[in-house]
Amino acid sequence: MENLKKNKRTKVFMLAAACLCALSCHGRELYRDASRPIEERVEDALSRMTTREKIDLIHAQSKFSSRGVPRLGIPDLWCTDGPHGIRPDVLWDEWDQAGCTNDSCVAFPALTCLAATWNPNAALTYGRCIGEEARYRGKDVLLGPGVNILRTPLNGRNFEYMGEDPFLASVMVVPYVKGVQENGVAACVKHFALNNNESNRHNTNVTVDDRTLYEIYLPAFKAAVTEGGAWSIMGAYNLYKDQHACHNEYLLNNILKGEWGFDGAVISDWGGAHDTPQAISNGLDLEFGTWTDGLGAGTVNAYDNYYLATPFVNMLNDGKADMEDLDDKARRVLRLIFRTAMDHSKGDGEMCSDAHYEAARRIGDEGIVLLKNDNRLLPIGGDKTPRKILVVGENAIKMMTVGGGSSSLKVQRECSPLDGIRAAAGNSIAVDYARGYVGDLSGEYNGVTTGQDLSDSRSAEELLEEAVAKAAEADMVIFIGGLNKSWRQDCEDSDRSGLELPYGQDRLIEALAEANRNLAVVNISGNPVAMPWVKKVPAIVQAWYLGSEAGNSIADILFGKVSPSGKLPMTFPVSLADNGAHALDAYPGTKRDGSDIVDIEYKEGLLVGYRWHDAKKIKPLFAFGHGLSYTDFKYGKAVADRKEFDGNGSITFKIPVTNCGDRAGAEVVQLYISRKDSPVPSPVKELKGFSKVWLEPGETKEVSISVDKDDLSRFDAEKHCWTADRGEYTAQIGASSDDIKSTVKFNLK
Ligand code: BGC
Repeated sequence: MENLKKNKRTKVFMLAAACLCALSCHGRELYRDASRPIEERVEDALSRMTTREKIDLIHAQSKFSSRGVPRLGIPDLWCTDGPHGIRPDVLWDEWDQAGCTNDSCVAFPALTCLAATWNPNAALTYGRCIGEEARYRGKDVLLGPGVNILRTPLNGRNFEYMGEDPFLASVMVVPYVKGVQENGVAACVKHFALNNNESNRHNTNVTVDDRTLYEIYLPAFKAAVTEGGAWSIMGAYNLYKDQHACHNEYLLNNILKGEWGFDGAVISDWGGAHDTPQAISNGLDLEFGTWTDGLGAGTVNAYDNYYLATPFVNMLNDGKADMEDLDDKARRVLRLIFRTAMDHSKGDGEMCSDAHYEAARRIGDEGIVLLKNDNRLLPIGGDKTPRKILVVGENAIKMMTVGGGSSSLKVQRECSPLDGIRAAAGNSIAVDYARGYVGDLSGEYNGVTTGQDLSDSRSAEELLEEAVAKAAEADMVIFIGGLNKSWRQDCEDSDRSGLELPYGQDRLIEALAEANRNLAVVNISGNPVAMPWVKKVPAIVQAWYLGSEAGNSIADILFGKVSPSGKLPMTFPVSLADNGAHALDAYPGTKRDGSDIVDIEYKEGLLVGYRWHDAKKIKPLFAFGHGLSYTDFKYGKAVADRKEFDGNGSITFKIPVTNCGDRAGAEVVQLYISRKDSPVPSPVKELKGFSKVWLEPGETKEVSISVDKDDLSRFDAEKHCWTADRGEYTAQIGASSDDIKSTVKFNLK
């Protein structure tokens, strides 16, 4: 705390000095001079502003914009969702569509898919492309990426995030943020923090021990800020220590701005602010969406009454708030505007370009995970090319870019899986389709409609019978099902009701497996699903929400144009009881007596995802890090560049990996660290490095992965610092969290 105060004093002093220098050296218009450092320009602008102008800067003026300083020519700030495409424009003060004809975008694969590529270069490309689309549309802040950790597979918003592991999410978020911001568009990393389920999202109060907070739930945010240089952060809806995360002393003042030195702006989630004194004192800089639930109901034109509007002015007038607090917020928002809207050197961006479609398809190709492939049923082609393929399932035809909440998009085009398969099959393979089941017919969100009529008057029995009869006649069956973007599936503001597939799909899959042994199941979801039929189905593919190029990416994998190289960024448990939060009954929380607060205690602590499975020795359905290829990789013996590591620099592990199949492919080599005789209970092993390597048939590469002292450190809650314990560690290198190929011991001195 003392440090924090000192920091604050030093900063104020430096800013005052910069300000004086700015005024004396450069006269009135210094803030317009792009050749001057941003800090000087910000101070100059701030010194010219009235209190009202500062207040106007720190809260919304419409659904997605906040005011600049018109008198000084400082432009408004425009935000947009995020995180996998640029949302269509809504009316000034309504959620209804603005009805623009130039706001259709490319939908990129959802972030679960990006994480499944395990390829930071893919994240950089992704960030650059989506930043260009935002730029072209004149947006300054992209409301994404989301990096909340997958704690329960029921969280309706997991599809927008990067999986269950803090290390993987940290490595992937940094290039995304950098790519976006290269365009003069701010990434707004969300939802900070502990927003790990959607049910009761506005009134859930999370209790989590400090070590778990720092080791599991914060690292990706920290990396986005300290390595990615994120210019803005979105506060979450939920509460922590009984304060809403959007104005939370611990998360925002102490950790984000204090410990991590964040100099950007904290933006509230839409409707996430609840209190003026807290909003003033506890770190919120820019308030949006008040009196809405973020998606629906709202008071029309309420902006003057926002917590950081007139009520703040009143407190200033009454001497209950300091101008210093207002200046700090205005300064941060000005900095955001200077970095984005006022950056006149930024490019024009581009939208719906061939390059963006190409990137979306490549990332989709790289993120699809081949979960199972008995007898090499896939890829389709070669000697066993079928003459007749039957495609079954609603998700083969349903557009998935509309729905799911605020990430819903209006796309220029979307290739369905069935269309992608038909295009890849060409004329030589006949492709037939049977619906199989009716799931959710809706195809509308916020006035954007898919235009698809998915109605079908047949009964479930009739649909099943038709599919099974056709399956018996086909050479191969591809079932394309899973979840969708409707409420209580993969959708904001709701959680799923269970792990199982909805709409009777399990029964249908079992029946298809009986009718035809050449069955491939393609599961489309942003979450793990239960697969009671897993043993009866020879090939299973995990395809996520892949966006505009969904069908083409799926076909690229099914027909072997691309060899799969995605790996799961999350554990697929057999049943919910195999997940820590559920096993301990620590979800969805307990209603507090006499209050509408729902308390959730993260009782499983560090044991999230594979850490729970390791600790309890529970075999998952498919493990974190799992993913097959059409070729085979052989791992040699791992070696370390030293036996004793003194904590300086890094220790490097090398392992030869050979492609011993007959086609090119890529493998994600993963390094987990385990600690022998840890002085405190610790996970069995934790991901601390990975490398994706591309290999031609017969080729061997030596893969090298380094870890440093930070990677070996744990958070000591008592001393409130990171500490690396001396002693023996083991590096476990393998193809997934449950397929370790080679281990090396070393000592930390
Ligand atoms: C969501 C945010 C989103 C915002 C603006 C909220 O409901 O939680 O993720 O960016 O709305 O649409």
